[in-house]
Amino acid sequence: MKKKIFVCRRIPELALKRLAAEVELDVWPDELPPSRSELLKHVKGCDGILSLLSDRMDAEVFEQAGSQLRVVSNYAVGFNNIDVREAHQRGIKVGNTPGVLTEATADIAAGLILATARRFSESLEQVKRLEWKTWDPLGLLGLELRGATLGIVGMGRIGMALAKRMHYGWDMNVIYTARSDKPDAETLLSAKRVNLETLLRRADIVSLHADYNPSTHHLINSTTLGLMKSSAILINTARGGLIDQSALYHALKHGKIWGAGLDVTDPEPLPSDSPLREIARCVILPHIGSATVETRQAMADIAVNNLLAGLHGRPLPHEVRL
Ligand code: DGY
Repeated sequence: MKKKIFVCRRIPELALKRLAAEVELDVWPDELPPSRSELLKHVKGCDGILSLLSDRMDAEVFEQAGSQLRVVSNYAVGFNNIDVREAHQRGIKVGNTPGVLTEATADIAAGLILATARRFSESLEQVKRLEWKTWDPLGLLGLELRGATLGIVGMGRIGMALAKRMHYGWDMNVIYTARSDKPDAETLLSAKRVNLETLLRRADIVSLHADYNPSTHHLINSTTLGLMKSSAILINTARGGLIDQSALYHALKHGKIWGAGLDVTDPEPLPSDSPLREIARCVILPHIGSATVETRQAMADIAVNNLLAGLHGRPLPHEVRL
């Protein structure tokens, strides 16, 4: 009998075809994620689930699926939507998609640095609204980036890819936090490991690349924002929950920091009445870090490989281990 799979959203077609050839496939067809009750209904009796970062995978889902559930394959490198410990206790393997989205996400972080420092959002709005009247010697002045100090919070693959772009392209000095020294960063980029407090005090640009988990929830809050330079900008392409958004709103509104560029927020999308939307120097993108044709296809390939390996009792090519 064919194994039963629930795929929580449409992913690139080729990957779905690969799956359809081997398993009984149920693909959630809508643009929006399944509601909790729909999710619980669809996972019933499944051997595997291909989940997205917007789908919470926890004891209730595993229970509802049943004891035959073998694998949850996340279509993302981040896996904060999955209770991995609970999955492991039940013998369910968890997969993710590391590596393939490094460059695309670093591009978006670099883009946000430029967009925030050079005020792209405000500039685009002025042109669209016919408010731009003439070349203005004092209009829309931004920050010079060459030679700035870039602070990478969480020097992993994406942090390193961003640091390379900024060091080689804009002569930036790189400082970083990490659990251990990163010899590549030190040799190639003359980067220095510092603690978070030093990084926040020194950096002109603070870019977040840390894992999101209970210990990093609201890592950036009114206290840590208070350590940053008033001329600094904050970039987040990791997870929205790393930042206390109310504290960020107040910091931006009162000029405690210069600007922020966010590809991720909490929740996503921001509610229509979120005051952050009103802040001109807060550039907000709709979580497009990995959104290139090539990257999304590569993520789909890995997610399917993980899923099929899990179904056949083989080690997952990219397994999340705690
Ligand atoms: C991930 O894979 O965790 C990214 O946030 C998706 O863009």
